[in-house]
Amino acid sequence: MANRIVKVIDLVPGRSVQLPSIENETLGNGQFWSDNVCAQEPIVIRHAVRDWPALRKWGTPGYLEALTDREVGVSDAFNASPTGLWYQNLPKLNLDQAISRLRNAGPDETHAIRSLPIPPEWKPDLGHYDFLDAKRDQPPRVYAQDRLFIYRNASTEWHYHTTDETLTTQLLGTKRISMFKLSSEDWQAYAVPIKSNLHHMDDGARFFPADRALTKFEATLEPGDVLYIPPFWWHGVDPADTDFGITLAHCFRTPLNRIGSLSDPAVKDVIRAQQSVMLAFRMRAFVALGSLSRLVTS
Ligand SMILES: [Fe+2]
Repeated sequence: MANRIVKVIDLVPGRSVQLPSIENETLGNGQFWSDNVCAQEPIVIRHAVRDWPALRKWGTPGYLEALTDREVGVSDAFNASPTGLWYQNLPKLNLDQAISRLRNAGPDETHAIRSLPIPPEWKPDLGHYDFLDAKRDQPPRVYAQDRLFIYRNASTEWHYHTTDETLTTQLLGTKRISMFKLSSEDWQAYAVPIKSNLHHMDDGARFFPADRALTKFEATLEPGDVLYIPPFWWHGVDPADTDFGITLAHCFRTPLNRIGSLSDPAVKDVIRAQQSVMLAFRMRAFVALGSLSRLVTS
């Protein structure tokens, strides 16, 4: 059944500027770590995984379908709750049937297979990131290390991550991404309407500051490109085409001296939102550890 395709990026008003990008081969040793991870600066690394076999192989109908034997949930809506687990209750299909359905869908249909762990049979088609030292590619604290998103016309709602560093790795199809960082002054003015879904209402821009002063850093990811997303950077994703697409989210551990301080409005928001007292305690403990580590290392 055809659905209206939902796009999210332009629903939040702001001034769009180009997100910085760099060619993978021009990145010096350790440069990504010092200039981006330690500085919490997002960047697009062009042609970073150009040599991964997945880029050549996964677009061929029948290839992935023959390499799978498991069940997955398939959604027919955009990814409205990126951090929620509601989609665990979706109707299940065999992965090969699900992929065929997405490949053969009409250009106006929305489908998504979300947060799929990499099937072991697919792993030989993936590789490594040469801009990230293996010793720094430590297992993430909260998110899964690797999640695949297989989609047709499925945007991902504006959200941010509380910890862990993310490498959004485009394997098939093109995506438009937009990112912004809020200060304590503009946190409420943007976080509240977005979390209340007011931006999806008709003329939703009226719920945001009228000055359109928010700076949105934007880029289009082509197959082989990698976007680095630091914690607490809001991001929204819209497919830039109507084709079958696959994105890999690879996460690694945030260095301890980089975990946010309690003065960060996003950190306060997270602690307020924690349903579980224990989780809030753990978050505070992380923040305290991060502050301590900064004192020790600075
Ligand atoms: Fe994300």
